[in-house]
Amino acid sequence: MDAIEVVTRLGAPEGRANPYPLYATLHEIGEVVEAGPAGVLVVGYDAINSVLRDPGFRVSDESSFDEDLPGWRANPVFVQGADWILNLNAPRHPRIRSLIARAFTPRRIAGLEPAITAMADELLDGMADRGADGSAVEFMHDFAYLLPVTVICELIGIPEADRGGFRPLARDLAGVFEVTDAEALPAINAAAAELLAYFTALAGQRRADPRDDLLSDLLAVSDADSGQLTGAELLHNLTLLLVAGFETTTNLLGNGLHIVLHDRPAGAALRDGPVPPSAFVEEVLRFDSPVQLTSRIGYDTKVGGVPVSAGIGVTTLLGAGNRDPRRFADPDRFDPMRPDGGPLSFGGGAHFCIGAALARLEGRVAFPRLLNRFPKIAAAGEPVRRDRLVLRGFDELPVTVA
Ligand code: HEM
Repeated sequence: MDAIEVVTRLGAPEGRANPYPLYATLHEIGEVVEAGPAGVLVVGYDAINSVLRDPGFRVSDESSFDEDLPGWRANPVFVQGADWILNLNAPRHPRIRSLIARAFTPRRIAGLEPAITAMADELLDGMADRGADGSAVEFMHDFAYLLPVTVICELIGIPEADRGGFRPLARDLAGVFEVTDAEALPAINAAAAELLAYFTALAGQRRADPRDDLLSDLLAVSDADSGQLTGAELLHNLTLLLVAGFETTTNLLGNGLHIVLHDRPAGAALRDGPVPPSAFVEEVLRFDSPVQLTSRIGYDTKVGGVPVSAGIGVTTLLGAGNRDPRRFADPDRFDPMRPDGGPLSFGGGAHFCIGAALARLEGRVAFPRLLNRFPKIAAAGEPVRRDRLVLRGFDELPVTVA
C-alpha cells in the first residue's frame, strides 16, 4: 500500500474507526511521507517534535483564510477563529498567548481539584442511581461530556444557572475542526454567535464586579496592559477554550474507559495496584490520543531527510507518532508502567496545549474515582464511535455499573 492509498483509507469510515494499522504502514514507508495532493505527512515521533518546535512551520492564519476560504468574514466562527491563538503566528501569537497564560496559572488549575472531585462524584452518583438495577447507563452522555464542560465553565467563571445551555453550543462549535461540508456551517456559526453574545454580557458583569475566576483575571490583564489584548481578542479566545478544551477531554475520558472495558487487568492495576493515576492518564493519551493530528504550512527545508517546499500542507500525525516503533517498545501494547512514556497528544513548541495540566488533572481525578466506585463496570453493548479523524472518541459507551 502506498502513502496515497493510506490517506484515502484514513479518510474512509473504517480508517477513522481504527487508524492504527494504517499508521503502522506509514511507519514502514518512512518518518516523513509525501502523499501527493494530501501534502506531507509527518509520522515519526522525532520528526513531529521537530516540526512543531520549528517556528518556520506556520499555522493557518488570517492570510490562509483569505486564500482558502473566500467570504470567511461573513462567518462568525471564522471571524472569531482568526483571533484564536491556535490560528495565530508571531508576533500576534506570543503576545496574546502570554497574556492568556498569565491568567491560566498553575495555582488556578490546581485550585480546581476540589471542584472537579465534587463534580465527578455527583456524576458518579447519578450513574449509580440509574444503573442500580443493572440497567445500562451511557458513560459518554452521563459523565464524559458533562465533566469537562462543567469544569471549563467553573474555570472561566460561568454561573451554575447558565451552564445547561453550554454543552450543545460547545459541541456544535467544535464541529469547526472537521467541517467537511457547507451544510454544517450554519449551526457552527449560530453557536459561535450565541457564545460570543453570552461572553460579552458576562464580561460586562465581571468588569463591574470582579470575582476569583479566569474571566475576571483576563479582564484585569487586558485593562492593565491597555492595547495589549483587545476586547475582541479576549472574548474570541474564550470561545476557543470551549472548543479546544471540551470534546478533547471528553475523548480522553471515553477512550480511557474503553481501554479498561476491554483490558480488565489494566483497570485493576489502577484501582488496586501499582499504577499511579498520572501514569495511567499518560498512557491513555499515548495509546488512543483524543487529538490525532494537527497541521502546519511548510517552508523550504528538509524534515527527516525529506524535502519540504514552501506553502505545502504538512500534517503531523500525533496519533501515529505515539505508536512510533522507533520511539516506543511494543507500541501497540497498553502499558502505563512503560519507562519510555511521553505522548505527543498535547502537541509541542509554541502552540503546546495551554490546557494540558487541566486535562491531566481531570483524568487523574476521574479514572480512579470511576473504577473505585464501580469495580464491576462492564460494557453493555456496542460502543458508537464518533466518525471523525482529528478528534478521536465515542458518541456512546454504554456500561453496566452494578
Ligand atoms: C485531553 C485533552 C486535550 C488534548 C488532547 C489537547 C490537545 C491539544 C493540542 C494537540 C494542541 C496543539 C495544536 C497545534 O499545535 O496545532 C492544543 C492546543 C490548545 N489547547 Fe488543548 N488539548 C486538550 C485539552 C485542553 C483544555 C482542557 C483546554 C482549555 C481549557 C485546552 C486549550 C487549548 C488551547 C487554548 C490551545 C491553543 C494553544 C496555542 O495555539 O498556543 N486544551 N491542545
